[in-house]
Amino acid sequence: MEYNSPTISFFGLGYVGIVTAACFASKGFKVLAYDVDKKKVELLNEGKSHIFEPGLDKLIKESVDKGKLKGVYDPFEAVLNSDMTFITVGTPSKQDGSIDLKFVDSASKMIGEALKLKDKWHLTVVKSTVIPGTTNKVVRRNIEILSRKKYDEEFGVCSNPEFLREGSAVEDTFNPDRLVIGGDEKSVNFLKRFYEMFYNPLPPTIITTAENSELIKYANNAFLAMKVSFINMISRICQKLPNGDIEVIAKGIGLDKRIGPLFLRAGAGWGGSCWPKDLNALKKFAEELELKLPLVDATIEVNNTQPLIMIDLAKEELKDLKGKTISVLGLSFKPNTDDVRDAVSIKIINNLLEEGAIVKVYDPKAMENIYRIFQDKLTYAGSAIECIKNSDCAMLVTEWDEFKRMTPEDYLKNMRNPFLIDGRRIYDPKLFSGKMKFKAIGLGNRV
Ligand code: UGA
Repeated sequence: MEYNSPTISFFGLGYVGIVTAACFASKGFKVLAYDVDKKKVELLNEGKSHIFEPGLDKLIKESVDKGKLKGVYDPFEAVLNSDMTFITVGTPSKQDGSIDLKFVDSASKMIGEALKLKDKWHLTVVKSTVIPGTTNKVVRRNIEILSRKKYDEEFGVCSNPEFLREGSAVEDTFNPDRLVIGGDEKSVNFLKRFYEMFYNPLPPTIITTAENSELIKYANNAFLAMKVSFINMISRICQKLPNGDIEVIAKGIGLDKRIGPLFLRAGAGWGGSCWPKDLNALKKFAEELELKLPLVDATIEVNNTQPLIMIDLAKEELKDLKGKTISVLGLSFKPNTDDVRDAVSIKIINNLLEEGAIVKVYDPKAMENIYRIFQDKLTYAGSAIECIKNSDCAMLVTEWDEFKRMTPEDYLKNMRNPFLIDGRRIYDPKLFSGKMKFKAIGLGNRV
């Protein structure tokens, strides 16, 4: 077995797959990247990415040019010419919120079929977020049946969940807080040796069973989402508290080392491709074990109603939103990404449309993605200033840097009715509220 520099293959070029593949290749490892979607493979071989992520295009271009990163159309080619395969396919939700493992199932079946033709030991690493038990019950089992090889002796399987955040995915991959690897000794050691080479030195690493490793990922996301929903819940008190300000409360509790300052930014709610689906999948998994997860239920419940606070704040001032022009600044579920999956902006826009408002939108990256959802129901602006021009209310929904640079004068000069609702707490209330109508999440009236 070539330990010095294992060749790595990827099944699935979504967010996690394409970023991880590019990061591995950028450090000189040979990477073969396979996806059922031929367009993604083709684009990769042109040195480009189908997603926007800071730093990613450069890494891909350099690695493709150096011959370290190659997109392949044939799953067999990927498996037979590599020492280990990372499964990074999507794990979407089914209608009832439970996890849909169809892509993990088909990827592991393809790997099994290919391994039938291979003589060397091969490792399969499950990086996709999967409910506990999947690595052993689905992936290992599929490979065992289809390859007709002996587990441990002829192939290995382990779980290695991903903790990268969209918008800082490259940075997170190079500098993770920790690694989690779960599985049998041989598989775990093989992967650990690769990571020792890749990171040098290895970040803090938890070695455990595949099931624990899989559950760590869900517990991690559920805890972070709970932290954000917690601060959003407290922000509702601040909203009704004269002189209350959630920013100060977050700072006050965040300085307690047992709580910590991160993920305490109150706002219009959380979204994205992970938390909504993962929290629902965890709930469904617990139901199978005849368990209730009341903290997860409450975390979701707070989040479902949090965006509506923006609508209530607008109504307090404008009374009826029918026929009013409302500008929505920021559409992606967070800054530095074009991803709008389960974005708060969608809930807000839907509510505004139901109220009969004329909705104008702008986002530096997510315009195309939001157009696919709303088409001609919205007015699409080419800039933030164009978006707020002649409007009755501006709602700041995603905290992009370019919005942070806007001044009260920008709003005063351009809006018909200068009225701003800061849904992400990016503006200094002292500066803004003296000059124009200004409301913000978790900010009580000044008395
Ligand atoms: C999340 C986790 O942070 C990653 O560790 C994990 O790997 C990823 O899910 C995943 O499972 O793939 P991500 O969804 O990219 O990453 O985004 P986060 O930065 O965690 O933000 C999630 C949502 O919470 C965003 O809508 C963000 O605006 C919101 N948020 C976050 C707040 O409203 N307040 C905060 O203080 C932090």
